[in-house]
Amino acid sequence: MMMVSRGATATRLSGRMLICSGTRLFSAARSAAAAENMAAAGRILSQRYGPEGRGAAASWIGGVRRASTATLAEKEQQKPKEQEVEAAEASEKSIASYWGVPTSKVTKEDGTEWRWSCFRPWETYQADLSIDLEKHHAPTNFLDKLAYWTVKLMRVPTDVFFQRRYGCRAMMLETVAAVPGMVGGMLLHCKSLRRFEHSGGWIKVLLDEAENERMHLMTFMEVAKPKWYERALVFAVQGVFFNAYFLGYLISPKFAHRVVGYLEEEAIHSYTEFLKELDKGTIENVPAPAIALDYWRLPQGSTLRDVVMVVRADEAHHRDVNHFASDIHFQGRELRELPAPVGYH
Ligand SMILES: [Fe+2]
Ligand SMILES: [Fe+2]
Repeated sequence: MMMVSRGATATRLSGRMLICSGTRLFSAARSAAAAENMAAAGRILSQRYGPEGRGAAASWIGGVRRASTATLAEKEQQKPKEQEVEAAEASEKSIASYWGVPTSKVTKEDGTEWRWSCFRPWETYQADLSIDLEKHHAPTNFLDKLAYWTVKLMRVPTDVFFQRRYGCRAMMLETVAAVPGMVGGMLLHCKSLRRFEHSGGWIKVLLDEAENERMHLMTFMEVAKPKWYERALVFAVQGVFFNAYFLGYLISPKFAHRVVGYLEEEAIHSYTEFLKELDKGTIENVPAPAIALDYWRLPQGSTLRDVVMVVRADEAHHRDVNHFASDIHFQGRELRELPAPVGYH
């Protein structure tokens, strides 16, 4: 497609240059160049997509042949942009039909069409709001204290930067919170492959955590739009944090999980502050985004406050899972020796 597009652009440019030399010359030169480009595109489609591609290629080349006998006025009516759109559509159709991959329609329990392709009904759940939010792992040994103070130190610049803008703060912190699960899951995945051994379900649990955190982000970006410098900050922080956590997990998984456990404790605190601001009215309690209603199976009419409540409950579950994982390592055992809490929300 890139080659086709470049060919079309080159044709338009050469056409513009030649139009200065006279209509007759332009007509002949442009037709020849266009025919050459379209035929090349046809050959590419034909080679890549077989019979379907050949069909699309034939219609393209046919179009070029017809164009060569059309009047100049007719040619002027053919808008290059429309041709590009048609070509893209033809290409997409030929790809879909060639590979035969179904794009199945999913329906909700009430029979209406499911509107999200990023998650499906069987991935939704009702958050357990009864979870203890006060639970805390008291740091006793050196590694725990190091993890605890690392997180406390990380909070300082966050407090300075965001202050009481909790919507924005939540959105930005979720871009970081979704990293550890993915890194931990990936490293356990590689370990399972290297050692020819089962994971005890921990790969799934950590990847599910990453996905859950990413859904928090997808939800909060509906209520807080990042500014350009915040996007730049996410870019920089992700580069540093991903690599730091990757190295940290390789060196000491018990330390890495403990850090996440304390990060989740901080997240619970941040969302509690968020709720206080909503209750005071300093942050408007807007209707819950549609994505949140479906993901957490919230009733119609739910608000941002309800969303913060379920997100906070999720963070409490992540806290427990990560402190639990760290405890397993502290006991000198491996995660796979204890069944992972799959589906723990
Ligand atoms: Fe989160
Ligand atoms: Fe979390």
